[in-house]
Amino acid sequence: MGEVASKVGEKMLDVCQSNGFDVEGACGGECCCSTCHIYVQKELYDKLPKPDDDELDMLDLAVEVKDTSRLGCQIKVTPDFAGMKFYLPKAVVNNLDETKK
Ligand code: FES
Repeated sequence: MGEVASKVGEKMLDVCQSNGFDVEGACGGECCCSTCHIYVQKELYDKLPKPDDDELDMLDLAVEVKDTSRLGCQIKVTPDFAGMKFYLPKAVVNNLDETKK
């Protein structure tokens, strides 16, 4: 969908939101909603730090999870991000809504 600019150290959630992509980030980046679910290009995915247990727990509750799924609030831009592609899932679930019931 085009190139976006970002800064090293910026969270991908913030990059998505500041560039107008429909990534809700309902919990404000606290790793408790999964509405920032994104797909990362495999080449980059393999270079990222592994998701921690909290992120994996949230991804377990997300829909359409793939091998390259990450939470945008949990990954930060590095120089390796240059030229990489990201994709958004067709649907997301807000686990925060589930915990409020
Ligand atoms: Fe809620 Fe990332 S913004 S898990």
